[in-house]
Amino acid sequence: MTNTDLKSSGGSDALRPLSEAAEEQQNNAQPFPVVAVRDLTKTYILGGKTRVPALQGVSLDIYPGEFVAIMGPSGSGKSTFMNLVGCLDRPTSGKYWLVGNLVSHLSSDKLAGIRSRLIGFVFQGFNLLGRATALNNVTLPMVYAGLSRREREKRAHKVLQLVGLADRVAHKPLELSGGEQQRVAIARALINGPVLLLADEPTGNLDSHTSVEIMGVLQELNEQGLTVILVTHDPNIARFARRQVTFLDGRVVRDDPVINHRSAQEEWAALANIAAVESSTLKEVTL
Ligand SMILES: Nc1ncnc2c1ncn2[C@@H]1O[C@H](COP(=O)(O)OP(=O)(O)OP(=O)(O)O)[C@@H](O)[C@H]1O
Ligand SMILES: [Mg+2]
Repeated sequence: MTNTDLKSSGGSDALRPLSEAAEEQQNNAQPFPVVAVRDLTKTYILGGKTRVPALQGVSLDIYPGEFVAIMGPSGSGKSTFMNLVGCLDRPTSGKYWLVGNLVSHLSSDKLAGIRSRLIGFVFQGFNLLGRATALNNVTLPMVYAGLSRREREKRAHKVLQLVGLADRVAHKPLELSGGEQQRVAIARALINGPVLLLADEPTGNLDSHTSVEIMGVLQELNEQGLTVILVTHDPNIARFARRQVTFLDGRVVRDDPVINHRSAQEEWAALANIAAVESSTLKEVTL
């Protein structure tokens, strides 16, 4: 879909209610890109005068149900791009439509509202509250949603179950493994039913086995229809996505489908087979 198409089909500059747009998106009635950016730039000003051009004209469409890995060297603008897409920051110039609505010009208050309703975030460092249980970490983003405590906890139990942590709800972060902490963070990101999940180096603090586990959770959510954008330095992690976009010096320099795709589920199945063969061989040897 081109910029012109967006303008003519959605009357892009005239904002529709976002709740309506998100609902439409979820029903897939009209396939707007979840994310459409055109000529997006971001220049940071340091010490009042030094200009840092972090993004220098990015144009990209990401459609519902896509799983996109953003790659590129350190300083190439990946996090800056994610902050803009996540409505955490505003571009210096250019336009951003989120589920068909122009949001790049909105005030930070309005962006905060949109962010909490439509976007889930997962970070490298989990960012959990140390003194709160998994359940309370997950209910936190719902505090302003006007739901009763009972309803909030019911929903939190549901998402914790979804990420395989039904039996860890009362644990505090230090009583959980790294992979489990990241699962809590994923559950927290899902609690308000986002249309888009943004993950910036979600496996950066995890060993390779746990990383596959976390990528498996993201793949399952994506298979259920959630659009996922992942930033990673690791080409082996990027292979869990379906599309790979490479940044260099604040620009997109490559945008390709992932050819040698990895499936976490298949890798687990293969590992389980190896374990089964090993244990039967062991039995034969000891008999
Ligand atoms: N708040 C800021 N103020 C000034 N410059 C910034 C700020 N945030 C980022 N930059 C600069 O913008 C450029 C892009 O940074 P960004 O964090 O987007 O890179 P990145 O691709 O995410 O890198 P990494 O892989 O190391 O996380 C860098 O040159 C960085 O120094
Ligand atoms: Mg970064």
